[in-house]
Amino acid sequence: MDRRAFLGNTLAAAGGALVGGRVLRAAGGTQRESAVRAQVPGAIGQSEIEAARFPDGFLWGTATAAFQVEGAWQEDGKGESIWDRFTHTPGKVRGATNADVACDQYHLYAQDMALAKKINQKSYRFSISWPRIQPTGTGAPNMKGVDHYSKIVDEMLKNGLRPFCTIYHWDLPQALEDKGGWPNRDLAGYYADYAGILAKHLGDRITIWAPFNMPWSVAYMGYGVGALAPGRADFDDFLKALHTLTLAQGQALRSIKATSSKATVGSAYGMCPAYPKTDSDEDHAAASRYHAMNNVFLLEAAMHGRYPKAFVGDAPYDKMGMKPGDEEIMHAPLDWVGFHYYTRRHVSDASKVQAFSGGGFSGTEIEADPATGRDPYTRFRAEMPTEGPLTESGLEVWPRGIYDLVMQISKEYNNPIIEITESGCGYLDAPYEKENGRVPDTRRIAWFQQELAELARAIKDGAKVRSFHAWSLIDNFEWGNGHTERYGLIYVDYRDQKRTIKDSGLWYGRVAATNRLT
Ligand code: FCB
Repeated sequence: MDRRAFLGNTLAAAGGALVGGRVLRAAGGTQRESAVRAQVPGAIGQSEIEAARFPDGFLWGTATAAFQVEGAWQEDGKGESIWDRFTHTPGKVRGATNADVACDQYHLYAQDMALAKKINQKSYRFSISWPRIQPTGTGAPNMKGVDHYSKIVDEMLKNGLRPFCTIYHWDLPQALEDKGGWPNRDLAGYYADYAGILAKHLGDRITIWAPFNMPWSVAYMGYGVGALAPGRADFDDFLKALHTLTLAQGQALRSIKATSSKATVGSAYGMCPAYPKTDSDEDHAAASRYHAMNNVFLLEAAMHGRYPKAFVGDAPYDKMGMKPGDEEIMHAPLDWVGFHYYTRRHVSDASKVQAFSGGGFSGTEIEADPATGRDPYTRFRAEMPTEGPLTESGLEVWPRGIYDLVMQISKEYNNPIIEITESGCGYLDAPYEKENGRVPDTRRIAWFQQELAELARAIKDGAKVRSFHAWSLIDNFEWGNGHTERYGLIYVDYRDQKRTIKDSGLWYGRVAATNRLT
């Protein structure tokens, strides 16, 4: 029997969850619901969860993205985005749904901000849809779009939420894709103009801006392997897109700061702590290349005006379209560092392999690199281990990862202020009629308890983490996985848009009120 099967049997025998050798009681709920199924080898136990404390003033928040929640895809002059085009193309989305209506937050935002307040939230990370502001990606702003975001920002402030704006969460105006998309260097300038428009109209109220959500994924998943919109698959386009995004990040930071004196600019990078698969020097070096390429490529560029060592042999800077003077454009030190945590990677060396075939995308943040390794430059293979249990969205549960990642970034970047921009888990729990329609999502509570205990430990050990944004406030449209995944603290019935706060949402509200996890 392997380790997972053994632990599974032990769990069944105990009739509840064993975490770190102890039975984990669910916070609240009946005896039956306290049979939490999360089980993590080596996880910290119930006493650590009970002892964990967060500092006064810690900013508890949630995150969403425009395309995933807004709907209203053709309203008030909005242009078409690459995600509208992608989701309207047969075969691209699981379950054959689209985000034309999504959670209808375009109309229901007041209700959603009130719900955030109800669960004691202090920060709301949202994104702005570029084609609402500039329907074709350039030129004068569409004031109906600007007014919409002005109203939603006011609503946040009214409900005591800090408006945290992500300028770009994947919905590029289709007209700019028609001009070549992110591999076209001109997009850096267009994007900086768009960022400047936002700073001009909203910068009196928004003080915290993240230029891009997961820029590495925008380039790799969108242009390298085609798993996300616009669905192109060409490794050279990936390299070019990555460089345009880095230039855009630097130009946008300057454009925002030139327009709004209150602005602070950081990031919303997707990161996974990378562990060498074996203790060999080669695998250690491969894990460093993974970290350089997937986690800190744009961070290093912003902080130091250079790219980190992500490549074996000569870096393909010519293929990326790098020009003399680009280092200065890239160099734009961030005021704080924001990143997401979902799961971890095992990384092994593929430097001796001759043939490379590019990775796939089997769900959020997963790149299942082929056995041969990802590409001829980085020459590593990254896998998601399955030592811990999997969520229903298929990601390994590994709470310790957030501690390791936060400590690593703190060490490498001189103990910066850190914002956890996203973190969460996909489970499909739905309202249970025998419990008056409650949503007893005990696995999500267990997931957050364990992860947050690890985050509290990182803070205790000196990391300057000032916020945590759970993904997500509400269930929403999960990109290529459509409506087949649910990450919300609040359940959404897509038939009538009814919202129901899940048990995890009620629990998270208590966490936000008390800075403790039980
Ligand atoms: C992140 C994305 C976010 C959502 C979560 C589950 O990678 O930034 O939009 O899809 O995963």
